[in-house]
This record gives sequence, C-alpha cells and structure tokens, in this order.
Amino acid sequence: MSAERIDGKAYAAGLRQRLAAAVPAFERATGRVPGLAVVLVGEDPASAVYVRSKGKATVEAGMASFEHKLPADTSEADLLALVDQLNRDATVDGILVQLPLPRQIDEQRVIAAIDPDKDVDGFHVANAGRLAVGQPGFVPCTPLGCLMLLQDRLGDLSGMEAVVIGRSNIVGKPMAQLLLGANCTVTIAHSRTRDLPAVVRRADIVVAAVGRPEMVKGDWLKPGAVVIDVGINRVPAAEEGKTRLVGDVDYASAAEVASAITPVPGGVGPMTIAVLLRNTLVAAFRRAGLAAPEGL
Ligand code: GUN
Repeated sequence: MSAERIDGKAYAAGLRQRLAAAVPAFERATGRVPGLAVVLVGEDPASAVYVRSKGKATVEAGMASFEHKLPADTSEADLLALVDQLNRDATVDGILVQLPLPRQIDEQRVIAAIDPDKDVDGFHVANAGRLAVGQPGFVPCTPLGCLMLLQDRLGDLSGMEAVVIGRSNIVGKPMAQLLLGANCTVTIAHSRTRDLPAVVRRADIVVAAVGRPEMVKGDWLKPGAVVIDVGINRVPAAEEGKTRLVGDVDYASAAEVASAITPVPGGVGPMTIAVLLRNTLVAAFRRAGLAAPEGL
C-alpha cells in the first residue's frame, strides 16, 4: 500500500463547520436562517435514512429543515402542488425531492417544476445548462464534492488528464463539466468504451461512477494517479449472510499504484450531504441578494 487515503469524512466535517459559521451573518442580515425543504414520497427504507440524515445535518448547521413525507400513492398533481407551494415559500431556500419517486410520478416533470434558484440538487435543466456554459447556478452535490476533494489534494488541476467512468446526469456528466471548467483534458468513458483499461491508464485523475463493484483494477492506473471512487455497492461479505460496502474501484490493488484514493465508505459519501448544505447556504445568500461567503 502506498496511496494516501483521501479522508472525505474529515473534509466534510470541516466544510460543515465553515457553513455553520456563516449562518449567523445571514441571520443578522435577513432575520431568518437558511431553510431546506426535503420531500420524501413513499417508504423506501434507504431513502428514509438519507432524508433523516439530511434533516439532522441541516439542523446541526444551524439551518431550518422542513420535511414533507407523502404517502406512496401520492399523485403527480399533488406532488407538483407541494413543489409549487415550496417555490413560493420565502423561508425555503432549497428544495430537494428525494429520488427515486414512485412509478406513477414522472421524475423529470417534478424536477422541471422546481424553481432553478432553489434547485440545490442541481438536477434542473436550467442548472445543467448553466454549468455547461459556465454561468453561476447549482451543481449536483456528489460531483461538486469530488471536485473539492481533488482541488484540496492537487491544487490547480490545469492541464491534467481526467477520465470519468460513467455518464449519468447526476454524477458523470456534471463531473466532466466541472473538470473541464477546471482546465482538465476530460474523457468520459462508459459501458461501450473500447479498451477501458487503456483509456484509464492515461489519466492523472480517475473518477469512477459506474455502479460496478471493484471494477477498476490497480493495473489499469497510471502510477501516481489520484482516484475518486463514487461507487457504493453492497456485496456479500466473507461471513455467511453478511454484506459489506465496496466502491467501483478495487481498493487494495489500486492503492498499490495510485498516489491518493478515496475509501468506501468514508470518501465521497460524506461529502454529498455537506455539499447539499453548502448549496442551500449559497441559495439563501443569492436569493437575499447578498454575496455568498468565500471559500465554500
Ligand atoms: N437519491 C439518492 N441520492 C439523491 C440525491 O442526491 N438527491 C435526490 N434528490 N435524491 C437522491
């Protein structure tokens, strides 16, 4: 093992402290604290856990959390009516509708209904477009968290070769846009890419976001590469009946070759909620016509 572990948990804790420290100035200027509304439709246990931890983290940062739990058989019209109400609510700066949604609801229609200036998930096409053309907007939390970890580790990324594995709208595509914005030479690889190991071997920076357990092997990497593992895959553990979490990167072999790598868990995962709170605070400052604090 030679690679340094990139401690996303520690970075996220520091970011959350900086956010909490910025809340009082907002409150003095506006008479209220930033507010995040989280909407959960149905009883998916994993989603319920995420929503609970988002609410807890929001309150810990000194912001207001508004949780809306709707039954699994909620109609699209009823959900759109709630989104409309949250769009108009001046105490709500950020709106997050937890995905996936039940089958009877069209996710794209719901995302399109969210005020782009409250879209702290960065999923609205207006925010995808702003990111693509370099205008201020909101960037999806996971890729923005990955960029923060990379810049913290490497400083200026200009001229570096970056390979993003995965082309989802939530991670791969916005990650590629962020790296391009940071002056990397960016390749997006995916399931149809020919000779993926050869493509990955070019990279100074590898971001793996494919959802395939331990797919990226150490001998795919250029020595000294920095590896960001976005994967969260539950696989059977050695002990009968137990499971364990692994990333999209085979940590043991990759750590022999990389200079730095995020672990799973404890790498990218903790960044997502911290960046959600960051986006909410930034939304609040922008909506109030105030300059958002630097360094967030
Ligand atoms: N479901 C899993 N991750 C996310 C996320 O980041 N945002 C939303 N809205 N739903 C999710």
